[in-house]
Amino acid sequence: MLNSKIAGIGFYVPKNTYTNEDLKKYMDTSDEWIQERTGIQERHYADRLTETTTTMGVEAAKIAMERAGTTPDEIDFIVFATLSPDYYFPGCGVLLQRELKMKEIGALDVRNQCSGFVYALSVADQFIKTGMYKNILVVGSEKHSFGLDFSTRGRNVTVIFGDGAGAVVLQPATREGQGILSTHLHSDGSSAEILAMYNPGTHANHWSPQFPAKFDEAEIGQMFMSHAMIDEAQNFPYMDGPAVFKKAIVKLPEAVEESLKQNGLTTADLNMLIPHQANLRIAQFVQQKLHLRDDQVHNNIQRYGNTTAASVPIALCEAWEMGKIKEGDLVCLAAFGSGFTWASALIRW
Ligand code: ACO
Repeated sequence: MLNSKIAGIGFYVPKNTYTNEDLKKYMDTSDEWIQERTGIQERHYADRLTETTTTMGVEAAKIAMERAGTTPDEIDFIVFATLSPDYYFPGCGVLLQRELKMKEIGALDVRNQCSGFVYALSVADQFIKTGMYKNILVVGSEKHSFGLDFSTRGRNVTVIFGDGAGAVVLQPATREGQGILSTHLHSDGSSAEILAMYNPGTHANHWSPQFPAKFDEAEIGQMFMSHAMIDEAQNFPYMDGPAVFKKAIVKLPEAVEESLKQNGLTTADLNMLIPHQANLRIAQFVQQKLHLRDDQVHNNIQRYGNTTAASVPIALCEAWEMGKIKEGDLVCLAAFGSGFTWASALIRW
């Protein structure tokens, strides 16, 4: 059974750049606070009216397909990861299928937030390995800027996130030992409410009585999205930052070590680690814990912020474009996020 390989990769970020200084127009914050806590200097925001999560994914996908030497017509499956979809439903996968005028192929949406791309890659990998599909488009894309609280109330979350998309075309490997060697997926739902967007939703406080959803009237048809929820900012993400930090710095290194161990390798064999760009401090902690040199890790959160499902493919593509990843290199992707979910993928490039 041959592995699957990344045959083409691309990324797209919108042209509008917002520096930390720019954010001061909306909220009480400072460049110093943001850089010290997160390492972020600037991020890109999609054009409010003309760009969506799907259209950014389409731009990244076009580059990935061109580099893989494939056309939309040859793609036989789509896996699309995002937490900021164009619609609550249907998912972005079908919108991408429509935009790229593809055949009536299957389209699957993955909702695993920051680890969404690595999960999506793992799903696609299984389909290639079983021989079911030969050309899968895997996309991670986010338009966070549309769903963040730009007042001072939301500053601890809002300053962290940016918009963008990354995509790969997955195909059967052509050489023995090339491609995705293994993927590793994990979850721990005991902390689901620590990093979450509570509303709109159908939970009606069943899971989160400590953060009561505000209803105008607890009547059928009135509880999904109420004026009171908007007044209380319940439609914006909630994050217990320190709790996320503590778990991420344990689970990310574990995921990397697990992938290496399964393949009889060690961190000394690793040419490049692409950690999810959650926060530069988290990535630095992970690097330290794994005793990796600077040239074994690629970080770019300084320029893009945290782009959630897009962060791993954007960083992977950028590292490859910069010549930091070459044929035969051992590359590890590792992500951690809301859920909590975390995942890794070990790749022989
Ligand atoms: N600008 C200025 N001050 C701010 C800002 C801001 N943007 N945000 C919060 N503050 C203030 C708070 O109001 C608070 O003020 P107070 O002491 O007067 O009450 C003070 O800064 C400290 O607030 P904390 O929330 O305790 O800040 P903390 O030091 O924990 O840093 C941070 C917050 C950066 C989020 C940190 O907890 C962290 O790094 N957590 C990891 C989580 C993370 O990186 N998540 C990324 C997304 S999730 C993912 O991708 C997995």
